Amino acid sequence: MSAADPFLEELEQSFALPDGALKAVRRAFQEEMQRGLSGEPSSLKMLPTFIDRASGRERGRFIALDLGGTNFRVLRVELLGGGTVRVAGIGKYVIPEAAMRGTGDELFGFIARSIAQFLNDNRIDAEAKFRLGFTFSFPIDQSGITSGKLIKWTKGFSASGVEGADVVVLLSKALRQVGLNDIDIAALANDTVGTLMAQSYEEPDCDVGIIFGTGTNACYREKVPNIKKMKPAVQSGEHMIINIEWGDFSQLRVTDYDRQLDRATNNPGRQWMEKMISGMYLGEIARLILERMIEEGILFAHSSARLKAGDFETRHISLAESDRSDDLANIEECLEALGLSDSSYDDRAAVAAVCRVVSTRAARLAAAAISAIVTWMDPEPSRKHTIAIDGSLYEKHPHFRQRIVDTLEDLHGDASRQIELTHAKDGSGIGVAVAAAVAAARA
Ligand code: BGC
Repeated sequence: MSAADPFLEELEQSFALPDGALKAVRRAFQEEMQRGLSGEPSSLKMLPTFIDRASGRERGRFIALDLGGTNFRVLRVELLGGGTVRVAGIGKYVIPEAAMRGTGDELFGFIARSIAQFLNDNRIDAEAKFRLGFTFSFPIDQSGITSGKLIKWTKGFSASGVEGADVVVLLSKALRQVGLNDIDIAALANDTVGTLMAQSYEEPDCDVGIIFGTGTNACYREKVPNIKKMKPAVQSGEHMIINIEWGDFSQLRVTDYDRQLDRATNNPGRQWMEKMISGMYLGEIARLILERMIEEGILFAHSSARLKAGDFETRHISLAESDRSDDLANIEECLEALGLSDSSYDDRAAVAAVCRVVSTRAARLAAAAISAIVTWMDPEPSRKHTIAIDGSLYEKHPHFRQRIVDTLEDLHGDASRQIELTHAKDGSGIGVAVAAAVAAARA
């Protein structure tokens, strides 16, 4: 028995989500969905997006913008029909700290300059009229497919003067300032919506889109009459995608570590579920636990090194949980790089155990929310649901996907086979081009 074992046992219990707890989360999630759709106070915003999924027949050339993580991306996308997409060019621009947390003018100025550079680098004629899709991966209050006001920044963004403003207006103004006068912004969409759109272009029964990346969120396909808060005058079509904004779900049991993490963020008291699931936060939760263990003298007892805020990242969790070597050599290397040399085998095993506890809770919580969405649409579930998923955590963590699958099986038994998780690679980039094409076909 190692000195850390009693601590780890207690930790496991406080992070556990047994089946009964998952069912309670699912129930509470559906109640919040109901309230959000009716316009009652709810931690789930349930935002109408004014778009339905694709048919796969859409065609055209588009420029897609993707803002929401550490990089701003510009993609040249060609939809060839028959579910075929060609990405003819991608530009990636690191968002400067000053643009992320300065003024809105700085942020949108940076975006416009990056687009101008992309057009130049790819020899795309700026005079030619082309259609642009804008993936804006934050909560937006939309009044149509080409307009939307930012409700609240998340994921560490805080550029001033943007909350409450229409981001399409801000983008158009910034484009004009760099001489790009002729751009038609044909669609504005959340990244989850893009992910669903991109997958549905290939696979028509896709009805949920999810991001597990820096942040986390989901959208799904709702029957328009169920969107009670929407005025009948603006309702069109039978279905509309709803951006749930599940990151803000708050009916959850939180631990001291979650509270400690929350207090240090620039949006305390918000985005509870995001802070328990997504890539921006999982590493930091693990670090807070490891720090507590160091303080209690049950970890790295022979070293005086400490782990500072931000030192231990979610990629370290993925690395620790991938280590299959007998002596946990990869973890040792990673700890050395963090200034923790001379770790014992027990230290390394304890680090792996902490990572497993934190990421397992994230996966089980995500599965409970997926189960809530699917059974909201189809209680049994009696038909197939393709869930399109994108994001770095989903792509890079060695067991995250499998743990979601296992938890869905715990909840649904054999019927869980109706729920198929599919990786929609680059969905958040490509999908908004599909959204622009769907909107153009409808107009
Ligand atoms: C945002 C969502 C977004 C998600 C994934 C969250 O912080 O609120 O709008 O979809 O991150 O990028």
